[in-house]
Amino acid sequence: MRKILIASDHAGFKLKEFIKKYLSKKKIKIIDLGPSKFAKVDYPDYAHKLSKKINLNKKLTGVLVCGSGLGMEMTANRYKNVRAALCYNQKLAKLSRLHNNANIITLGSRLTKKSVALKCINTFLNTKFEGGRHTKRIKKI
Ligand code: RB5
Repeated sequence: MRKILIASDHAGFKLKEFIKKYLSKKKIKIIDLGPSKFAKVDYPDYAHKLSKKINLNKKLTGVLVCGSGLGMEMTANRYKNVRAALCYNQKLAKLSRLHNNANIITLGSRLTKKSVALKCINTFLNTKFEGGRHTKRIKKI
């Protein structure tokens, strides 16, 4: 069974819960790294928590949600084996997998409709890395 790690800050909390509910209907094991309830928190704490795990296990996929998606993306990309992509449409979600082999999707709850967020997640989870010429390029990141 596929394993997905998910985390947010307070701004992304509601969307995180919504995504969890949606993914739980699929054959996906979701590991929620918090927060477990709505409270003001700092996004880097949750981005670090999740990214550390992805950095050590290449088979894992992550979902990080904050207000804009930017803070989560910036923090996650400090890790060597992480390629986090802020996606606000399906095309980006697709390209981030096809060309960049992204292993974390970040979403901005304040700027992205729930329906669009789900489309991005679906595309992200169902698109395979193209490999080929892109392999040498991502090695250069
Ligand atoms: C929190 O107000 C907000 O700054 C955070 O969710 C995120 O957008 C940061 O990049």
